[in-house]
Amino acid sequence: MFEVKKLGRHLGAEVTGLDLSQAVDEATFQAFSKVFFENEVVVIKNQKITPEQHIHFTKRFGILEAHVRKESRHEGHDEIFVLSNIEGPDGKPIGAIDAGRFWHSDLSYKEHPSMLSALYSVEIPVREDGRVLGDTNYASTTAAYEALPESMKTRLQGLQSVHSYAFYRNKNRQAQKEEAAAGGRVIEEKELTEEQLRSVPDVSSPIVRTHPVTGKKGLFVNEAHTSHIVGIPESESKDILNELYNHIIQEEFRFKHTWGVGDLLMWDNCAAQHKATFDYRLPLRRLMYRTTVRGSVPF
Ligand SMILES: [Fe+2]
Repeated sequence: MFEVKKLGRHLGAEVTGLDLSQAVDEATFQAFSKVFFENEVVVIKNQKITPEQHIHFTKRFGILEAHVRKESRHEGHDEIFVLSNIEGPDGKPIGAIDAGRFWHSDLSYKEHPSMLSALYSVEIPVREDGRVLGDTNYASTTAAYEALPESMKTRLQGLQSVHSYAFYRNKNRQAQKEEAAAGGRVIEEKELTEEQLRSVPDVSSPIVRTHPVTGKKGLFVNEAHTSHIVGIPESESKDILNELYNHIIQEEFRFKHTWGVGDLLMWDNCAAQHKATFDYRLPLRRLMYRTTVRGSVPF
């Protein structure tokens, strides 16, 4: 069997002694699954897996999604989303280069938001002094919900919010423009086709959702994808959302992962949010492969 070391106060654990390039028997898988949902973010250290093995293992949790951004899918494996700052021979990025600049949970704008994501590190940027760059930050939305004052819990009961991919694209584009204006890298993303946009219509979900596996309640709004709260004035919606965002990302609910090559980092999108750090640039290369498992409709 494998070993587990807890890393954060509310979330985060490290698993060693599991080799995903070999067959994982059902009992081990069930034990891992339990550890995963208890800890919300789990890193399986020292893996050497092919895209097929990555897909094979994560498929055991459910159906894998293919990302709406076709140009960032792995060649030959639609279920793998490539996150990278590496440029291909044509000078274009070989994957998504700025995914995750805002706090979010993956695919929360879909009718079936992602239940979990599994990100495998192939290449990581390391500074000359040995410091690894590109940390990923997490916050527990279940611990954050639990810690809310009763008055806010009551206020949120029955409220829904809209998650919108179009909202996210606009927000991200704005941030890209501001960065480029400040002398940063100019990122030219391919426009989505009408058909692609139609495949991700806005969805409404309960702000407080119940975890389908653990039964825990958690906050399901995020600054990247949530456009507004349904049925209340815009200014009030903004105030509540900002209050929740600031509450969720408080230090006590946080966990930070510093990458090692061969880490398979898995996170529970029903229980945690995350945010990337862009503190690295070429020639320091970063290459990651991600799969996401489709979740149930939030309730
Ligand atoms: Fe993400």
